[in-house]
Amino acid sequence: MAEIDELRTALLARIEASESPRDVLRASEFKQLYAKIPQLDPAERGAYGKQINELKVALETAIDARQSAIEDQLVLPLDITAPWDINGSEPALLPTENGSVHPLSKELERVVDIFTRMGFDAHESRQIDNDWNMFGALNFPEGHPARDGYDTFRTEEGFIPPAHTSTMQNRVLRAGKAKLEAGGQIASISYGRVFRNEDVDATHEHTFYQCEGVFVSDSATLGQMLGTLRAFFEEYYGQKLLIKTQPGYFPFVEPGLEFAIEKPATLGGKPGDWLEMLGCGMIHPNVLRAADIDPEKYRGFAWGGGVERLVMLKYGIEDLRHFESGKLAFLRKFA
Ligand code: PHE
Repeated sequence: MAEIDELRTALLARIEASESPRDVLRASEFKQLYAKIPQLDPAERGAYGKQINELKVALETAIDARQSAIEDQLVLPLDITAPWDINGSEPALLPTENGSVHPLSKELERVVDIFTRMGFDAHESRQIDNDWNMFGALNFPEGHPARDGYDTFRTEEGFIPPAHTSTMQNRVLRAGKAKLEAGGQIASISYGRVFRNEDVDATHEHTFYQCEGVFVSDSATLGQMLGTLRAFFEEYYGQKLLIKTQPGYFPFVEPGLEFAIEKPATLGGKPGDWLEMLGCGMIHPNVLRAADIDPEKYRGFAWGGGVERLVMLKYGIEDLRHFESGKLAFLRKFA
């Protein structure tokens, strides 16, 4: 019995000093107390067993107290902006899940990568612009009904969160003019968020992404444009594709086309399932003139289309609203 008291003092002291107090209960000296029971006189066993149990309870109480003292020391300075229970000691002190790149950012990177490998430079499109870039420089006369097709938002000062990445065309053309006149070409893509005042449903968002291409040289042709677009789509989807065009009206191109691909069987398509992917055409002479480029000497083509549409087809995403929803269940699928 004196032996148990001695052990109690020793083990309690060890718990106080330990960084992993639970190990003390597993110490062999304590376990040996149980091993002695069979050697005792059967009449003594009951009292002895009771004492061991009392010791065990005392040790466990001390262990719990020591454990929470250790955890209290570990508590980080209170961060009221932390979104989970990082300030508590339970459960984990650190998040157990990593963040990830948004699927649109990831896919945009692939798009940019494909075009830069083809020799295009790439830059982000502006998120606030003016009437001139959004319409005027793109051959939309004041009061032209085609302006209404773009459902634009406007600030009280008259600025416009652009409704298409074509808002970058005039800047791209001006920036490339010197290169063109030195015998080179303009080959540039602009990508980024665009905004439309539309009712939101599974295929319409007020905020979405577009990617726009502009190419100008002294001899650009519609055939080069179709070849460039086909090469892009085949690279992006990793397979041969059927393409088709039909006339489309945009004031800044002439002729203007809508460009479609046949939905590949690998992505659930049947022959004859055409998907319209973008608008395109030869740059209108007035658009070149607006950038001080002589349409008698130079010609170009341009295209622009939605990025979500590309990604939705690739991954079978059924609802456009997922992208801006911030829903973790959706985002985790792409982590
Ligand atoms: N900006 C047009 C749209 O958003 C697409 C387009 C771009 C068409 C370039 C022709 C040339 O609908």
